[in-house]
Amino acid sequence: MKKMLLILFVGFLESISASADPLGYDSIFCFGDSLSDTGNFLRTGAIAFPVIGKLPYGETFFRHATGRCSDGRLVVDFFAEAYGLPYVQPYLAVAKEGKFEHGVNFAVAGATALDSKFFYDQQIGAILWTNNSLSIQLGWFKKVKSTLCTTHQDCANYFKKSLFLVGEIGGNDYNYPFFVGGTIKQVKAMVPLVVGAVASTIQDLIGEGAVELVVPGNYPLGCSAVYLTLFQTPDKNAYDEHGCLKAYNAFAKFHNSQLKLAIEELRQKYPETKIIYADNYGAAKKILHTPKHYGIEERLVACCGGGGPFNFNNSARCGHIGSTACPDPSRHANWDGIHLTEAAYRHIAMGLINGPFTFPSLTHSPTHDF
Ligand SMILES: *[C@@H]1O[C@H](CO)[C@@H](O)[C@H](O)[C@H]1NC(C)=O
Ligand SMILES: *[C@@H]1O[C@H](CO)[C@@H](O)[C@H](O)[C@H]1NC(C)=O
Repeated sequence: MKKMLLILFVGFLESISASADPLGYDSIFCFGDSLSDTGNFLRTGAIAFPVIGKLPYGETFFRHATGRCSDGRLVVDFFAEAYGLPYVQPYLAVAKEGKFEHGVNFAVAGATALDSKFFYDQQIGAILWTNNSLSIQLGWFKKVKSTLCTTHQDCANYFKKSLFLVGEIGGNDYNYPFFVGGTIKQVKAMVPLVVGAVASTIQDLIGEGAVELVVPGNYPLGCSAVYLTLFQTPDKNAYDEHGCLKAYNAFAKFHNSQLKLAIEELRQKYPETKIIYADNYGAAKKILHTPKHYGIEERLVACCGGGGPFNFNNSARCGHIGSTACPDPSRHANWDGIHLTEAAYRHIAMGLINGPFTFPSLTHSPTHDF
């Protein structure tokens, strides 16, 4: 009798673990740029930034470079862990095998929300790392979708347990013009276009069957080592009490406020969906304000780089000759001047998944520790 119970119990557990967790998400579909890319850019063969294909990128968790622009895991990886899902595979790695059942990651490092034509028309196309903008990523999603479900009802059933991460995207649309000397006033004029591109993608995804979407805003650009280095000024009034450049933070906030307005409009239009704003800005700012609480000692100085006050040196970027990585990346918020460390991404992911930085909060609570 005892033995029989045991067998029954084991059988019960097996059937639970074999089927998807009823309390969580079954799949994650992710769109974006280097903040979320888990290996697409590397597989495009573009050579603009090949150092992400070797150590010290990836040194912390994977122990080898994966194409992630960090020492370890990204926010999207922590989302997967939290919901007991496998890491979201880069589209270009799995496209041929068609293994999409737990979702796919379409994010590409360097990607923009606007199509590359926009940047070519502005004469700055040559500096783009990739042409795989948000609309190209949406096209990839449509191909994947055709292998997952066919009828409208079929697709609705499939995607009702999917989480769509739409961004962060748009940061590069601003980085490129800022890095070639665009003024804040000039770049600000692009914000409605960028937000419009994100909003139109959300609308398309809803049309394809998405019901729960997380739309992250921009990080505090003025606290980023690359901005602090390129736009360094002797004017003390340009900095806030945390040493961040006020004007660039205000710019990021402006983008975020426009994005929130667009999201609100979409919520009115599609009341049967859940469009969640993810406050990356607030989550990152909290780490910068109380770094000790997160075990972080260096808030602004990059872990990996080739010298200078913020350890960002454009002639010796992380991974290039002349750069070194710090011994313990978990004590830094910034990894390579542009991207954050795994430690920072983990705290940001916690702030989004457990709250309070998602509005409204996610439907499901995490099912696993992360
Ligand atoms: C993007 O497309 C343009 C032509 O439209 C091409 O010249 C360029 O090489 C492409 N860039 C990349 C990074 O693939
Ligand atoms: C930046 O890197 C170059 C090339 O390695 C080096 O010559 C220069 O001294 C570095 N600048 C700083 C501020 O460390």
